[in-house]
Amino acid sequence: MRRELPVADLPPADAYRLLTASIIPRPIAWVSSRSAGGVDNLAPHSFFTVASAAPPVIQFTSIGPKDSLANVTETREFVVCLAPLALIDQINLTSARVDPHVDEFDFARVEREPSAVVAPPRVAGSPVALECALRTTLEIGNGIVVLGDVLHIAIDEAVLAGDGLPVAEALGPVARLGRDEWAGLGELLRIERPHRPRA
Ligand SMILES: Cc1cc2nc3c(=O)[nH]c(=O)nc-3n(C[C@H](O)[C@H](O)[C@H](O)COP(=O)(O)O)c2cc1C
Repeated sequence: MRRELPVADLPPADAYRLLTASIIPRPIAWVSSRSAGGVDNLAPHSFFTVASAAPPVIQFTSIGPKDSLANVTETREFVVCLAPLALIDQINLTSARVDPHVDEFDFARVEREPSAVVAPPRVAGSPVALECALRTTLEIGNGIVVLGDVLHIAIDEAVLAGDGLPVAEALGPVARLGRDEWAGLGELLRIERPHRPRA
């Protein structure tokens, strides 16, 4: 027996809570950006995925206007740092609503390192940093989808296997669930694709 919920009858906040508690787990883009005035900003975004493989384009969605979105549209640069479970408290801290003049790396005591090709810094403790140039934004309802061309990928050598790819357990990603729930990687399964994959 299912509960049938016509969306037209749902208050928007209920639809949002139902979607975020159902579409799980979500990886977290820890988005680093720098304002035109030079203030560094860091904020988690779990509405995040790959938009294109070739060229490599990734996307995250800002629900409404936020400092990360303002910085990215102003400077056209950002870095998506993959969010490790080990830094869950700092990741959560950077979701606090703070004044745009506050440096959120300092605020959450997150160590930064210079990026290779963009101005916003990387999170030193994040195993994978994707340095991006803004391609475009798309406004969809109260969401602003930010699409960025990945210009440079920086991976901690310690998480790389012999095939040059990161080992999942070594990345130790943290995922966002619904409510105030988060999750680690959980059980890992290895299953071969039935056909030679195209991607
Ligand atoms: C794990 C997690 C994931 C989040 N994902 C999103 C998201 O996808 N989009 C969004 O707009 N806000 C998201 N938020 C809330 C933002 O991080 C929060 O609004 C933050 O203050 C935005 O910072 P900024 O104003 O510095 O950009 C998330 C919060 C947490 C804790």
